[in-house]
Amino acid sequence: MMKNLRAVITPGLDLEKAIAISEFEAPQPKADEVIVRMRACSLNYRDLIISEGGYPGINAGESIVPLSDGSGEVIQIGSNVTKWKVGDRVISSFFQDWIDGPFVAGHMKTALGGGIDGVLCTLRAFPEHGLARLSDKLTWEEGSTLPCAALTAWHALFEKSSLDPSQTVLTLGTGGVSTFALQFAKKSGAKVIATSSSIHKLKRLEHMGADEIINYQENPDWDQIVLKKTQGKGVDHVIEVGGAGTMPRSMAALKNGGRLSLIGRLTGIEDRIDPRPIMGKGLSVQGIYVGSVAMLERMSSAIEQNSIEPIIDKVFPIEEAAAAYKHLRGASHFGKIVITL
Ligand SMILES: NC(=O)c1ccc[n+]([C@@H]2O[C@H](COP(=O)([O-])OP(=O)(O)OC[C@H]3O[C@@H](n4cnc5c(N)ncnc54)[C@H](OP(=O)(O)O)[C@@H]3O)[C@@H](O)[C@H]2O)c1
Repeated sequence: MMKNLRAVITPGLDLEKAIAISEFEAPQPKADEVIVRMRACSLNYRDLIISEGGYPGINAGESIVPLSDGSGEVIQIGSNVTKWKVGDRVISSFFQDWIDGPFVAGHMKTALGGGIDGVLCTLRAFPEHGLARLSDKLTWEEGSTLPCAALTAWHALFEKSSLDPSQTVLTLGTGGVSTFALQFAKKSGAKVIATSSSIHKLKRLEHMGADEIINYQENPDWDQIVLKKTQGKGVDHVIEVGGAGTMPRSMAALKNGGRLSLIGRLTGIEDRIDPRPIMGKGLSVQGIYVGSVAMLERMSSAIEQNSIEPIIDKVFPIEEAAAAYKHLRGASHFGKIVITL
């Protein structure tokens, strides 16, 4: 008989000690819930910050089931459920209660693997509104990469703005958000300038269709190279995953009236930002926080229609969850890291 396994992470401990995997009793669905047999989960940089005890709202020493992103199969439904039937393939929504419309503070408390327990378990109860359909074209592993990184890139490019094929997007590095942004932007016909610190990864970016590539480590003035590559004009949109440390150069690389989607903080949060370019160049700065279930559904349809295949770097079994986190911390990955169940 299948074991019901669940991982629990205690932030702030050494990774080997922080993650404990144990058996637990199968959950029973409430009237508006479904039980999903989870098949795969994917990691995001946020999960690393949480494991280190550096995430607001989750204190070191407090245990939680980790991870927001997962795919699986509905195996049981509650008496009032109408959206799903047994056998449906689904993915989790990062904010369980952000169904549609604007983001409100209360949604924060429903973030998987943060405000509430996450998805790194073999069986999980979800409210029926907290899931989206997984395309038959995608594997469990591929589906598990979509809820956070992909949706964030999609939200920035197509929900809070509307990317035009005549436009140029700048992506920073080769993590989950940036590789999805590259794939989405290229499929829509836009140009992409992509950066990485690794020659090997730059080659892969080119292979994925990046129009221009820049090694940001060898070229600390990468913003000037972006300007050269755009005949002095600058790009239309930056997918800003670096945060305070990269934002000044990202703003310099934008054209007048350009847009910066503020998404990440890979360089930390301490640096001071000079806000003058925002005024002087008439830039739009938009904060992005993953997205709603409605956005997840729209993105999933677009991925299906455009036959987009998520980039998976490496797959680990649940028993090697700590190794998966360490792989993420090492930052040698390109795209997404997945754990199978
Ligand atoms: N706001 C939201 O809703 C949201 C959603 C998802 C993620 N995020 C945030 O976005 C950021 C990226 O997340 P992720 O999951 O995509 O991360 P990830 O997969 O861990 O990405 C790591 C990669 O980022 C690149 N990188 C690191 N420092 C860089 C720098 N100074 N300049 C340019 N690239 C740099 C490196 O690429 P190379 O090895 O190629 O150099 C590194 O391998 C994180 O801060 C995360 O918390 C926010």
